[in-house]
Amino acid sequence: MLGDHPINFGPGCLLSWDDGAGGEGPAAALFSWKKRNFVKEVQESVRLLRKTGKECIEKRKKAIQDGEEIPMDILTQILKGAGHETTANQLSFTVMELARSPEILEKAQAEVDEVIGARRDIEYDDIGKLQYLNQVVYDDFRYFVLKETLRLYPTAPGTSRALEEDYVIEGLKIPPKATLSFNSYIMGRMERFFPDPLVFNPDRFHPDAPKPYFSYFPFSLGPRSCIGQVFAQMEAKVVMAKLLQRFQFELVEGQTLRIMDSGTLRPMEGVLCRLRPRTNSGKTKKVD
Ligand code: HEM
Repeated sequence: MLGDHPINFGPGCLLSWDDGAGGEGPAAALFSWKKRNFVKEVQESVRLLRKTGKECIEKRKKAIQDGEEIPMDILTQILKGAGHETTANQLSFTVMELARSPEILEKAQAEVDEVIGARRDIEYDDIGKLQYLNQVVYDDFRYFVLKETLRLYPTAPGTSRALEEDYVIEGLKIPPKATLSFNSYIMGRMERFFPDPLVFNPDRFHPDAPKPYFSYFPFSLGPRSCIGQVFAQMEAKVVMAKLLQRFQFELVEGQTLRIMDSGTLRPMEGVLCRLRPRTNSGKTKKVD
């Protein structure tokens, strides 16, 4: 991932750049030493960034292996806070909703049986084939179940942006420096965007269903959106597929739907399930 692979900025890249000085045509740009120096500088910076990242991760791995205490630095924050908790909470909400919706659970299980069967390892290609499960998760618009979970329970429930200049939205003038908050929890539960919003229905994300238009953004949007979204959803799919393959869930009596907002959303009382191993039901092969 963080291998020392230099990025090759080919001549095509130079040709397409304009340094704002004006008057330089593509041919001139190709031979511009100024630009070559700039490209070299960028290459060196990328190399340094990769090298530093790699060193930092190696150091952290060694510290973990040696049983040393891990500092609460930015790397820990990213992996533990931004990454683990949001994904773990998404999985809890998914289990809760599947256990409440036997038909959806059955459909998701049937898909896992079809794609993975009793195999212990899940291959990269399998992940793309788990289309229905993905509707519950989030990936792109081919997928549904994990996505539907993040509509009702966006585990990172919103974001904010500060305006540099004034801006007019539907006739309303917003002054510069104003902070705008976007709440994906509220948007995901608005009838205007999602009919019967409180119903857990992965088919909202069926490929043929109309696409939400800027009203679904559990990972935020734009250049500062979540950097871990693809990884997170891959992880969620693998864990859910394993659980669906091996267990039948049943919620313990008294499960509430209460949600706690502690920066990330989580089920307030946790999700307590009774698990029964799946053995031979229909297409389900014996799981070892
Ligand atoms: C279900 C899982 C996750 C959800 C719902 C989620 C959601 C979000 C949201 C809403 C943002 C805010 C972006 C903004 O302010 O516009 C964000 C940012 C971020 N996320 Fe995630 N995230 C998840 C998993 C992860 C994982 C697994 C990682 C890392 C391994 C990660 C790393 C980050 C980082 C570093 C940022 C800051 C990006 C920036 O400021 O440029 N996230 N995430």
